[in-house]
Amino acid sequence: MNERVYIFDTTLRDGEQSPGCSMNFEEKLRMARQLERLQVDVIEAGFPIASEGDFESVKEIAKVIRGCSIAALSRATKGDIARAWEALQFAARPRIHTFIATSDIHLKYKLKKSREQVLDDTVQAVRFAKTLCDDIEFSCEDASRSDIGYICQIVEAAIAEGATVINIPDTVGYAIPEEYGAIIRAIRERVPNIEKAVLSVHCHNDLGLGVANSLAGVMNGARQIECTLNGIGERAGNAALEEVVMALRTRHEKVGLHTNVNAEEIFKSSRLLTSLTGMHIQRNKAIVGDNAFAHEAGIHQDGMLKNAITYEIMTPESVGIKHSTLVLGKHSGRHALKQRFQELGYQLSAEELEAAYAAFTTIADEKKQVFDDDLIAILQNEVSETPETYTLETLQVTSGLNLIATATVALKKGEEVSQDSATGDGPVDAAYHAIERITGIRGELLDYSIKSVSWGHDAIGEVHVKITIDGYVFNGRSASTDVITGSVKAYLNAINHASTARYRKDKPSDVKREGAAV
Ligand code: KIV
Ligand code: ZN
Repeated sequence: MNERVYIFDTTLRDGEQSPGCSMNFEEKLRMARQLERLQVDVIEAGFPIASEGDFESVKEIAKVIRGCSIAALSRATKGDIARAWEALQFAARPRIHTFIATSDIHLKYKLKKSREQVLDDTVQAVRFAKTLCDDIEFSCEDASRSDIGYICQIVEAAIAEGATVINIPDTVGYAIPEEYGAIIRAIRERVPNIEKAVLSVHCHNDLGLGVANSLAGVMNGARQIECTLNGIGERAGNAALEEVVMALRTRHEKVGLHTNVNAEEIFKSSRLLTSLTGMHIQRNKAIVGDNAFAHEAGIHQDGMLKNAITYEIMTPESVGIKHSTLVLGKHSGRHALKQRFQELGYQLSAEELEAAYAAFTTIADEKKQVFDDDLIAILQNEVSETPETYTLETLQVTSGLNLIATATVALKKGEEVSQDSATGDGPVDAAYHAIERITGIRGELLDYSIKSVSWGHDAIGEVHVKITIDGYVFNGRSASTDVITGSVKAYLNAINHASTARYRKDKPSDVKREGAAV
């Protein structure tokens, strides 16, 4: 068995309607485009009757997104359904999603209707929706607390009227996996026309079981999962898209089902949602949290360095994260420290490593995390008399159309500040020449890249440079909201690595490798 499970993303509907997650028109459009790149099968774009804003964004998303089905939610009334269709009509693949509650609790306290009335509403709603659109999804709200015989009756009627997808929500996140799987199995066994529709699961996370219940659902025959990025949604949220997709992928040998999602877009999608809503995820969030591929314990770091399979069940690259991180902190061991020094361009002898490790553990006891600059300081202060490095004191540039770009740079080394000016092909080139004049180190630029690591006008740009000096390659990195300052600091960072490495002339093999200090 290797059947496909359809991914129905409801980030823009069930997710967006929850506290702290609202998005405006442009933000929803941007998110929808990213969901299209992620290759979800269905984007539930909103609830058009709920507000003019929801209507307009569903309409626009329906017009511009051509690679996914677009669904819009409606209660089981003609007015809601007609409004949903008005917004959806231009979609390449429109789907009307209509729902009504089926549990006695909801019937008695919320709808104040009998089971017969709700059955009739279902029939009328699906029948009317089918006159507008081919693809009709019907949901039994609060299904997991509904009478199974009654659900089967309603589902059979909805399919008879032309429903193509039947969704069985655990609206209040009450079910546990075995029970929820049994509901799906019972529907498959007891509804005679069930093969004419796709069965769908929609699980909220009130007991933290949204993903587990969704998996139980598909293992019992459901073939669509409704979920949201980062698991946003009402109360404790919905099943997280990234978790269901990666669970199906990572445990394919066990579950035997696949999705069409382009998993390498997961991280980007998750970060975009966070930046649009300001709704942050916890560090240890599965798949996309800061710690999801970070290792600090010495034993784990040692295992990771020997073979990542020891402590990672999927690769960070598979979800669009560049690499795992070995966080240097008080739990780290000598192996990880040695490795990090190597990456910085230093091959320490056994005694040097011991001295560095002793200094490192003292710093790590005081700080949560030990960064590369701390490690270089350890080398300078504890291990050997490496020279002090340069820091940027001031930078002034002039450039423009038909002007020769000029830069004046002041660098501090120890207590001494030196200043010089130079011209160049643009302000960055001019500043690099000024640095060469001050340091006497001439680096040939092999690579320069700048990328935005945050959003908006004041986005932070991360600059990476790769330079070569006397045949040795050094990397430098910096992040700044000012791209020229960032570019100068990145170059200086590479020069600093070169100057400390040069000092260690006795070991040229130390630095004749790439990858230092990024
Ligand atoms: O949780 C739920 O029951 C829903 C339905 C409207 C599908 O979101
Ligand atoms: Zn829901």
